[in-house]
Amino acid sequence: MNRLRLGFLASHGGSNMQAIIDACRHGTLYAEPCVLISNNSRSGAMERAAREGIPARHLSSVTHPEPEALDRAIMETLQHYGAEIICLAGYMRKLGPQTLNAYKNRVLNIHPALLPRFGGQGFYGERVHAAVLAAGERKSGPTVHLVDAHYDQGPIVAQRRVPVYTGDTVETLAARVLEEEHRIYPETLQRIATGELDLDALAAADRTQSHGNAPYNPED
Ligand code: GRF
Repeated sequence: MNRLRLGFLASHGGSNMQAIIDACRHGTLYAEPCVLISNNSRSGAMERAAREGIPARHLSSVTHPEPEALDRAIMETLQHYGAEIICLAGYMRKLGPQTLNAYKNRVLNIHPALLPRFGGQGFYGERVHAAVLAAGERKSGPTVHLVDAHYDQGPIVAQRRVPVYTGDTVETLAARVLEEEHRIYPETLQRIATGELDLDALAAADRTQSHGNAPYNPED
């Protein structure tokens, strides 16, 4: 069995990317990180890739002012390095249609809340956790989902709940969710690598439902 080749897109610190790289190194994830693309040349993710010896490319509206050219460069870079699955890990841009078509049902994202709630445009970073706290939720947790042309709307692949405690702040909740992100993302990729999880079948099953991603039941 060949190792699953992973391409990453990240804008910031890259702790999720690091957790996935570590799982590859430790053998708990049968995969190979093959390239990082960042829209931020000074991101922590770029530094991590350099430290890990993973090829890294800065591709952004600075390097490619035309959106179509940027989209093509991203797609061609991923293909050049033989990426089979694309992991968005704190990537703050939408992917273009060329990349999404070339990698249909092969692009994953991790979101720090239980989609379909607390997702969509404007729900990123601390805002997500602030909204969860303001709504008085008793549970939150990461969601891994397939990426389509809309923010946070693709079919849900995996979710895990963590408690929200009285007295939680954005920081304490974010830290608890992030810890779980670092577990669920590599574990989900391993289920894909072993063939236990079939992304095409998951996407097809999702299309038979009335709404894209499955609703979160607050009683779960
Ligand atoms: C994570 O909270 C993830 O859920 C969201 O962006 C953040 C990225 O963090 N999509 P990091 O760069 O992986 O540390």
